[in-house]
Amino acid sequence: MVSDVRRFGEIDSTNTWLLAEARRGAAEGLVAVADHQRAGRGRLDRRWESPPGAALLASILLRPELLPGALHLATAIVALSAVEACARTAGVEVGIKWPNDLVVDDAKLAGILAEADPSAPGGPPGSVAVVVGIGLNIASPGPTAASWQATCLEELAAAGRGAAVPSRDELLSVLLGELERRRPDLDTEAGRGQLAGELRRRCVTLGRAVRVELSNEVLIGRAADLTDDGRLLVETDVGRREVAAGDVVHLRPPVDA
Ligand code: BTN
Repeated sequence: MVSDVRRFGEIDSTNTWLLAEARRGAAEGLVAVADHQRAGRGRLDRRWESPPGAALLASILLRPELLPGALHLATAIVALSAVEACARTAGVEVGIKWPNDLVVDDAKLAGILAEADPSAPGGPPGSVAVVVGIGLNIASPGPTAASWQATCLEELAAAGRGAAVPSRDELLSVLLGELERRRPDLDTEAGRGQLAGELRRRCVTLGRAVRVELSNEVLIGRAADLTDDGRLLVETDVGRREVAAGDVVHLRPPVDA
């Protein structure tokens, strides 16, 4: 995957722009990066706001040949690449909160919004256009919600939790390099198995007591495992449930602490 990076001072949303390009047949590897978004979007129709220049705001177009049930792995390679970029440029150990938040001690450092359009033309037969957007807080904690707190790399460094505060360009360049290295894994069963294993190791939700907010119900239980295509397995009082999408709250204390 060779990246073609387009830079914007200001834009409505890098995801919105890249989805429109995907629908015009843009190739995998097109990347949109912005200093500021006027209408940044988060998961579940939330807004995603950060002051100009304070966060890495980037979206990447992938066109993997994956079955719809396995598309989460396309998001996972971006999450894992961002974890590695934080470790290498900032010296910060970051975990993945299912499905795709980057957290440090349960405070949200980055959010990822993946949007697929199976009808977007271009790409090899059987491929799906997936735009994966990341907002990674550097100089200012990003959006918060009732159920989570946020942090940023500057705050972590000030608390002695990191060796340095990287620039947005440094972070992006390591992230894209990692993504290029991992991208072939999506194309083979062995590679996908490896990705799933890495995701399990990085997923700080596993083993925790969780509340999972689904569109029409709330599950309370213990996050037991991930399936090989990235679904969350939750053990509840009435049995095991497989969750493809939802909002997770880590409850304290962990069930088996
Ligand atoms: C979330 O945690 O809800 C996901 C947040 C994703 C934000 C990023 S910022 C770059 C890209 N463009 C957007 O409009 N959203 C994503």
